Amino acid sequence: MIKVKVELGKNSYEICIGSALLPRVGLWLKEKNFSGKAVIITDTTVKELYAGVLEHSLANAGFNVTVLEVSPGEEQKTLATAGRLYQKMAEAFIERTSPVVALGGGVIGDLAGFVAATYMRGVPLVQVPTTLLAMVDSSIGGKTAVDHGSLKNMIGSFYQPSLVVADLDTLKTLPREELSSGMAEVIKHAAIKDRGLFDFLEENMESAMSLDTAVLQNVLEKNVRIKASVVEADEKETDFRRILNYGHTVGHAVEAVTDFKIKHGQAVAIGMIAAAKISRRLDLLHEEDAVKLEAVIGQAGLPVKLPDLNRDEKEKLLDLIGHDKKVRDDKIMFVLLKSLGNAFVSDKVDTGLIGEVLFGWKPA
Ligand SMILES: NC(=O)c1ccc[n+]([C@@H]2O[C@H](COP(=O)([O-])OP(=O)(O)OC[C@H]3O[C@@H](n4cnc5c(N)ncnc54)[C@H](O)[C@@H]3O)[C@@H](O)[C@H]2O)c1
Ligand SMILES: [Zn+2]
Repeated sequence: MIKVKVELGKNSYEICIGSALLPRVGLWLKEKNFSGKAVIITDTTVKELYAGVLEHSLANAGFNVTVLEVSPGEEQKTLATAGRLYQKMAEAFIERTSPVVALGGGVIGDLAGFVAATYMRGVPLVQVPTTLLAMVDSSIGGKTAVDHGSLKNMIGSFYQPSLVVADLDTLKTLPREELSSGMAEVIKHAAIKDRGLFDFLEENMESAMSLDTAVLQNVLEKNVRIKASVVEADEKETDFRRILNYGHTVGHAVEAVTDFKIKHGQAVAIGMIAAAKISRRLDLLHEEDAVKLEAVIGQAGLPVKLPDLNRDEKEKLLDLIGHDKKVRDDKIMFVLLKSLGNAFVSDKVDTGLIGEVLFGWKPA
């Protein structure tokens, strides 16, 4: 097992990465002196697979465990679902010192994280991510949220977990498409901050995608360190943390314009290639790096091209980009690459340039 520490003063915590970790969670929580009650929040799919082992581990460590489940899917990331969970927690007499254990993908991590952040003004949160995306991205960094209507992650708060446990064995049951989707964030981390990791991915993508434990453990450790270092430098996302949005400005718009039929990671893959093309157009990035990026994205089973869009959809895509959350003073904060492993935030990219690079549209 590998442990990575996220250094955030009194909000510091450890991320444990390895195999066969679920049975050990109970003892780790006992060591933290949390009270005798614990809640596991999970979704129906993950509950069937892993809640039993985790519940057993907590019960063996002396916790009185309540398991709460929601249906799988982004639709559950709402205040209404949070409300139902508060109600069940109150009925189970969950106290200020009772840990909430989020067992599942990013949807559960965000929802249970939000519930933990707000129930009785905050109870301890333990993240047990079971998707690759959640392991390398959403479980680290303390962003918790629910959606509000069609507005994603509108209501939320920064709330750091007390512990993150990434048990690689859980990835064995993850559908391949979900694995690819998470791999997009892995590639993103390498592309913005770690050339060495990028080269490693180029050599080992096949082994990583077939869940070779040694390869995966190494990839996860590097990823978690990258995300942790960015979060440490900028916990509340003022500036530097924005580089984590690489591929996301175009990616979010692609998700929206296709009515979320394209998964997040798939859209981010398209967005990363778009951002690399823009970086090329601005003479920032070498052709070979752009080619290498596209190859690695393809090896992870991710799309490398925009879906077919008609004129209206293309216009809508640009419109969405102009209204992305990451816009400041009407300028898009766009993440570009100088090289693989070296990203920066630019306010010089406008929708005119994006339209030109993506669709060959000349500015009016
Ligand atoms: N907080 C953050 O910083 C942050 C960062 C990135 C993404 N997110 C959020 O994360 C969410 C997406 O997370 P996700 O991609 O993990 O999706 P998800 O939580 O919906 O999980 C994907 C699917 O996989 C299933 N699943 C989960 N683990 C499994 C396993 N081990 N075996 C089999 N099936 C399993 C789930 O039931 C679900 O159907 C979005 O809501 C997004 O906004 C948050
Ligand atoms: Zn993402």
